[in-house]
Amino acid sequence: MIHIRRARPQDANGMGLAHVAAWRSAYAGILPDSYLAQLSALREAASYQRGITGRRQGHAAFVAAAGGEDAPEGSRMPPGGLVVGFVTGGRARRPELADGEVETLYLLDDWREQGLGRRLMRAMAAHLHALHCRSALVWVLENNPSRWFYERLGARTVARELIPVGGQEVMQQAMLWERVESLLDATAGTER
Ligand SMILES: CC(C)(COP(=O)(O)OP(=O)(O)OC[C@H]1O[C@@H](n2cnc3c(N)ncnc32)[C@H](O)[C@@H]1OP(=O)(O)O)[C@@H](O)C(=O)NCCC(=O)NCCS
Repeated sequence: MIHIRRARPQDANGMGLAHVAAWRSAYAGILPDSYLAQLSALREAASYQRGITGRRQGHAAFVAAAGGEDAPEGSRMPPGGLVVGFVTGGRARRPELADGEVETLYLLDDWREQGLGRRLMRAMAAHLHALHCRSALVWVLENNPSRWFYERLGARTVARELIPVGGQEVMQQAMLWERVESLLDATAGTER
């Protein structure tokens, strides 16, 4: 059973591992191999830990955790469960584009295409709604197939820009939900 719940500081290590695994799989062929090779799960974990405890600008993180309290007795699951994916976000870093922002969304390979991305997006949409954000956006690299996932949930592209990543320029695009309610509608019925 997978639970979606607010991230705790002890989830940061699992989030760091999931971040690096998801980047290496999602961005292979899009970002340089040398850049992907030097990513550090420990460095990412420290950054997520700061985000979870700091809660700047309405920042929140939600994890998809497998096992946890339900894990069979004697299993080696970490307390709170194994982090198989997560979403982070809060008030938009560039408020001229939207009120709220989904900053990261990553799932381990084996846990994709089972509805978890949608469930994590619902948790974040509910959070942004509670912050009184009217609109929400996510930045996605143009060559990342996950942009079809966001389109499926009703987002549309409103801006494009080149950014430097790993010593090369890549195009990213901002995908917008003009109304956070429309994202809530697109993810309704996913609580399990
Ligand atoms: C993007 C991601 C979170 C999607 O999560 P997921 O759990 O696989 O998606 P879901 O199972 O919830 O799918 C929801 C819907 O989107 C569709 N979808 C998901 N990924 C898609 C894709 N790459 N292309 C087209 N449609 C897609 C599903 O078919 C489903 O459609 P339905 O309404 O017909 O059922 C996941 O693929 C992932 O972690 N990718 C790698 C990391 C990444 O790129 N993150 C985004 C960074 S901006």
